[in-house]
Amino acid sequence: MIDESQLPKKDSPEVCEECFGTGTKLDPVKGAIPCPCRRRDRSRKLIAAARIPRRYEKCSFANFHCNPGTSQDHALNHAHKLANEYPAVDRGLLFIGPAGVGKTHLAVSIIRDLVEKGFAGVFYEFGSLLKQIQDSYNPISKSSEFKVLAPVYQADVLVLDELGATVPTEWVRDTMYQIINKRYNDNKLTIFTTNYSDKTNELEERITYRLRSRLYEMCTNVVIDGEDYRRRRRPDFQ
Ligand SMILES: Nc1ncnc2c1ncn2[C@@H]1O[C@H](COP(=O)(O)OP(=O)(O)OP(=O)(O)O)[C@@H](O)[C@H]1O
Ligand SMILES: [Mg+2]
Ligand SMILES: [Zn+2]
Repeated sequence: MIDESQLPKKDSPEVCEECFGTGTKLDPVKGAIPCPCRRRDRSRKLIAAARIPRRYEKCSFANFHCNPGTSQDHALNHAHKLANEYPAVDRGLLFIGPAGVGKTHLAVSIIRDLVEKGFAGVFYEFGSLLKQIQDSYNPISKSSEFKVLAPVYQADVLVLDELGATVPTEWVRDTMYQIINKRYNDNKLTIFTTNYSDKTNELEERITYRLRSRLYEMCTNVVIDGEDYRRRRRPDFQ
């Protein structure tokens, strides 16, 4: 009898034409060799696991436009350098700036670059991470706190977008502390973005002094200013 599970699934959209799903293909010179589709699959899985939001799917260093000498250019250099030098880096980045200056775009570009090199990356908007953790306490929801947090703790590179944006209740403060402190203790690369300025102490007020203090060691501050790119794209606003 034919073991059906060994056959490529008929409705599977993409059975590799070179190895027919076996992962090994015949090379006329070298004989049996690993099929390149396995590497492509791994890269695709890593990208999917990175949870890059739809809107930012195409964001990369290549399509981040800026003029030399601007704060955007400075931020791009920092981001590029980090991605090029990882894992030989000792801290992440904290992008600080107003809306639409490209903080999330750059954070996504770093994840993409590292994921394409085979590292595990995870993107979370901090508020939605907290919401998922909260939901995991609900017995009806299928997620568990562990399932939500395991990838966040384990990822080689984690982006926490919009740090400080959630109203800091006691639970939010404790949970933020638990997550960031775990990354801190494990010495893992974390990239943050925030709208809250460090100069005016706003950030510290939102995330507590103890967390702000850890961020000094975890990240280099990269302040971005300039106009809102979202507005620039709308000619009717000019
Ligand atoms: N320098 C740039 N080159 C190309 N696209 C850019 C640039 N800066 C921003 N964008 C695009 O503009 C939009 C807004 O950028 P982004 O979301 O990164 O802003 P942000 O700084 O994270 O803002 P917010 O604080 O509101 O989250 C995105 O679609 C992004 O791809
Ligand atoms: Mg953003
Ligand atoms: Zn193949």
